[in-house]
Amino acid sequence: MTQPDWWYDDLKQVGLDFEDEAEVATYDARQGGSSDADRALLTRLGVTPTTAMADIGCGTGLLACTAATMAGSVRAIDVSAAMLRAAQARAKSQGLANITFEREGFLTFAGSGDLDLIVTKAALHHLPDLWKAVALTRMRDALKPGGRIYIRDVVFNCTPDAVPLTAARWIEDLIQQSGYSRADGACHVREEHSTFGWILERMISEAGFTLLERTHDGVYATYLAEAPG
Ligand SMILES: C[S@@+](CC[C@H](N)C(=O)[O-])C[C@H]1O[C@@H](n2cnc3c(N)ncnc32)[C@H](O)[C@@H]1O
Repeated sequence: MTQPDWWYDDLKQVGLDFEDEAEVATYDARQGGSSDADRALLTRLGVTPTTAMADIGCGTGLLACTAATMAGSVRAIDVSAAMLRAAQARAKSQGLANITFEREGFLTFAGSGDLDLIVTKAALHHLPDLWKAVALTRMRDALKPGGRIYIRDVVFNCTPDAVPLTAARWIEDLIQQSGYSRADGACHVREEHSTFGWILERMISEAGFTLLERTHDGVYATYLAEAPG
């Protein structure tokens, strides 16, 4: 679909460059995800062999490939061709046939109301706030009535006054607890559009979702929400 000239181009990289092969090659070690944790999450989200789902901002495909061993079909969507190559290689090594790969973003992926579940982890913050809200409406429209969205992301669960202290503390924790550097953390806060939890929560409800669950753990938040029935 042709978009107007004011539409946000979300195929471009913002902040850390996930088109950089070196970034992609070291991503899993830095991020510290695990397929066991993803499997437990997907089980809790009710994924079964009849589930049609998408992982938007799928990165190297750790969750998407685990999902493909449990779901009927998985759409692995990401703006980074380099990330998608890594995800495709993972799927191939696992012999997965029910997963497709799409070089698209939140603002370009095709949705036709046939998904039971959309998962998006550590990706929505790449959009400025106006476009996060638009992305939520697009994800709503891609879901079946009553379908669910699970969002995990870095958000500021604080007042505006507390942003400097919260950001500084998070960057310290990030260095201690993951493979990310101070420069990576600074780049995230400065360039990657993480917003306030209370703004994201309002966006989710303004898009017509019913919030079912919310967790806050420092700057990490998860939201499970249901599309209108
Ligand atoms: C921090 S990684 C998270 C990857 C994976 N979801 C995970 O939890 O490990 C962020 C991913 O979002 C992708 N991304 C950035 N902007 C995006 C957008 N507008 N639409 C879809 N994916 C995007 C990046 O290319 C990158 O692969």
